[in-house]
Amino acid sequence: MTPIHLACIVGARPNFMKMAPLLRALEAYPHIRPVLVHTGQHYDKNLSDVFFEELGMRRPDISLDVGSGKHGVQTARVLERFEAVLEEGPPGRGRYDRVVVVGDVNSTMATTLAAVKLGVPVAHVEAGLRSFDRTMPEELNRIVTDSLCDMLLVSEPAGIENLRREGHAESELHLVGNVMIDTLMWLLPRAKSRDTLKQYDLKPGEYGVVTLHRPGNVDTPETLAPLVDVLIETSRRLPLVFPVHPRTIERLKRFGLAERLESAEGIVQLPPLGYLDFLSLTSQAKVIVTDSGGLQEESTVLGIPCLTARPNTERPCTVEEGSSTLVGNDADLLRSCLASVLEGTYKKGHCSKLWDGHAAERIAKILSENHNAL
Ligand code: UD1
Repeated sequence: MTPIHLACIVGARPNFMKMAPLLRALEAYPHIRPVLVHTGQHYDKNLSDVFFEELGMRRPDISLDVGSGKHGVQTARVLERFEAVLEEGPPGRGRYDRVVVVGDVNSTMATTLAAVKLGVPVAHVEAGLRSFDRTMPEELNRIVTDSLCDMLLVSEPAGIENLRREGHAESELHLVGNVMIDTLMWLLPRAKSRDTLKQYDLKPGEYGVVTLHRPGNVDTPETLAPLVDVLIETSRRLPLVFPVHPRTIERLKRFGLAERLESAEGIVQLPPLGYLDFLSLTSQAKVIVTDSGGLQEESTVLGIPCLTARPNTERPCTVEEGSSTLVGNDADLLRSCLASVLEGTYKKGHCSKLWDGHAAERIAKILSENHNAL
């Protein structure tokens, strides 16, 4: 069989758990030769290395080491460095047949643009999601990426509708399910058997997990301070574990909010955690308060109430069918949802039947059949 050379891209934390199951599924197709490219958008041990170890993913074949920077700087570095990788081609052969990108981070958009400019087709895993909020950098990344891709691998039905509306041909659309849930289902037993809860003196179902990192929430004191106040108030009723993203740590310090948070006895602040410890915490929590898109999906599958500190979501099934409620920055709504969680009257969600742990296998099959779409 003619070999198919793929460049598979990862860059930032949420990319690793999406790419790991896909690389495993591709092993069933010996003629597919994936080359793993890490842009280096995330580079800290606990935002990057730990995921390679815990997800059993091989080390990147190529590292672009772009690091942090303003959007333009980071995007430009990826464009320049990935273009050179594409021009050099896969080891021992002239050209990559396809690039595979996941999610909606700057690395996703920049590698897609570099590839299509050189005539290399791109497949997008997690295509079609739209928050319709162009103030979010991820929304811009999604729109640009999808408009340039010819293979759109979609996690929930709303994504198919969005892409149809944007004029994509039916032949480009594939409803495949959710690769991040593949990883969750694979590692949940291992995560639950860890002693993470004991380590932080927590009991199953008797604590909440918090994550906050969206620029819309953490980048100004006007948005971050009220959130900090609600967390402090909540922690008087329910202990909270808060692994804090580097962006948020920096903003808490800069806005003089770090001390206020630290003085709250019911809040355990932690550095960003690895996949297994974090899943151990979320899967046994009473409630999750977050602005993460991925966590909305994971909590839906885990059946844990998720109070989402965003005004909108690109993942509508997590709200319409799942366990998530959009509370935005409405402290009263957050309080009343929390009360219903504690009283046991909060809604019970369910999730799409394609979130079954086998999305990556479906994608690998499509990649093996459609490699020459352009
Ligand atoms: C990025 C993604 C976001 C994703 C998030 C997950 C974009 C536009 N945003 O946001 O969609 O949800 O990752 O974490 O792509 N930093 C470190 N160590 C690192 C990387 C970053 O300390 O390894 C710090 C730097 O100060 C950096 C800041 O975090 O400036 C923000 O990093 P960046 O990658 O720009 O955006 P995130 O907020 O992480």
